[in-house]
Amino acid sequence: MTFNFDHWVDRSHTDSVKWHKYRDKDVIPLWVADTDFTSPPCVISALQARVAEGVFGYGFAPPALISLVVARLRERYDWTIKPEWIVWLPGLVCGLNLAVRTCTTPEERSILPSPLYPPFMQAALSEGRRYLAVPAQNVDNRWVTDFKTCESSLEGNEKLLMLCNPYNPGGTVYRREELQAQLDFAQRHDLFVCSDEIHCDLILEPGCEHIPFASLNEDAAQRSITLMSPSKTFNLAGLGASMAIIPNDRLRHKFAHTARGIVPHVNVLAYVAATAAYAEGDSWLQAQLEYLRGNRDLAFARINAMPGLTLLPMEGTYLGWIDASAAELDSPYRFFLAAGVGLSDGRDFGNPQFVRINLGCQRALLEKALDRMAAALAAR
Ligand SMILES: Cc1ncc(COP(=O)(O)O)c(C=O)c1O
Repeated sequence: MTFNFDHWVDRSHTDSVKWHKYRDKDVIPLWVADTDFTSPPCVISALQARVAEGVFGYGFAPPALISLVVARLRERYDWTIKPEWIVWLPGLVCGLNLAVRTCTTPEERSILPSPLYPPFMQAALSEGRRYLAVPAQNVDNRWVTDFKTCESSLEGNEKLLMLCNPYNPGGTVYRREELQAQLDFAQRHDLFVCSDEIHCDLILEPGCEHIPFASLNEDAAQRSITLMSPSKTFNLAGLGASMAIIPNDRLRHKFAHTARGIVPHVNVLAYVAATAAYAEGDSWLQAQLEYLRGNRDLAFARINAMPGLTLLPMEGTYLGWIDASAAELDSPYRFFLAAGVGLSDGRDFGNPQFVRINLGCQRALLEKALDRMAAALAAR
């Protein structure tokens, strides 16, 4: 079966957060992290069949889905989990918040890399908590955070290390030795680790592989909460079927207890979509990865040819982190918005001289956006 990712989908009338923001304006929305691609046909037909049944009462995670997750993690990531380690969630951001509330008291701090997807910081601040942000560095053209650099800033009240792999923003896919260094740091300071791996299936660079932090060894497993979901992989974010995978029994029970009565059930359609995607979505995913590689290569060439902009090679995700500092703009986000391209403001991620671009769209739309960006810079 072939899949046509160039197929134009008009989302302007679909209650889309991404497209609604600039409704009635000539702005190409390349910000919030969903794609403009239709989900795999197997997902759409499974949803249609379930909707046709017409009853939508409470549901639970189907055993078939649990088996698919267990097999998928073993086959793709060489990580053997037990079914009971999975806590189902209606989204990953609530998982970030639950991790912070499970692993820290209001007097204890989290440690996280910077820049970072903003809900991490919001979660780390919940109920008056504080966090320590450790800057990522450009090391051989990859954004990497070395947590050793923050040792002298530790107060002794740190309890949680928050990781994002593949990295949003920037798309770094951490190597085994980098993950091992993160584990060494966590061991030295006796930290829990919350590893957000929502983008794990979106590896673009041939030769790069996703390694779950918890799969490093038993110690990593016992101190970790791993967050995963089919939502970015198969463009299901608006449905919300996500998982926290927690091997440590005490930690998992505390996490589940923290969620009780506050975090709602996963909706029944989300379970249907996730099951179909994991069961039958792999050829679609391979085709999507090929298409995203094309978008990434196009954006890399075009953006690095624009005066004052730098985009490092993206190993994973469809979210590029553009350094506009050499362009000396007051606000790169506002500059490109005025040119008709709606990017994410780097300020929200921790650096106002950057913008984040979402490459998950039809190539013709991406080309149009890149043309607008180049023309605006040339006209200054
Ligand atoms: C790293 C990361 N975590 C979590 C999320 C959001 O997860 P959810 O929509 O399931 O809450 C995103 C979405 O962009 C993300 O990039």
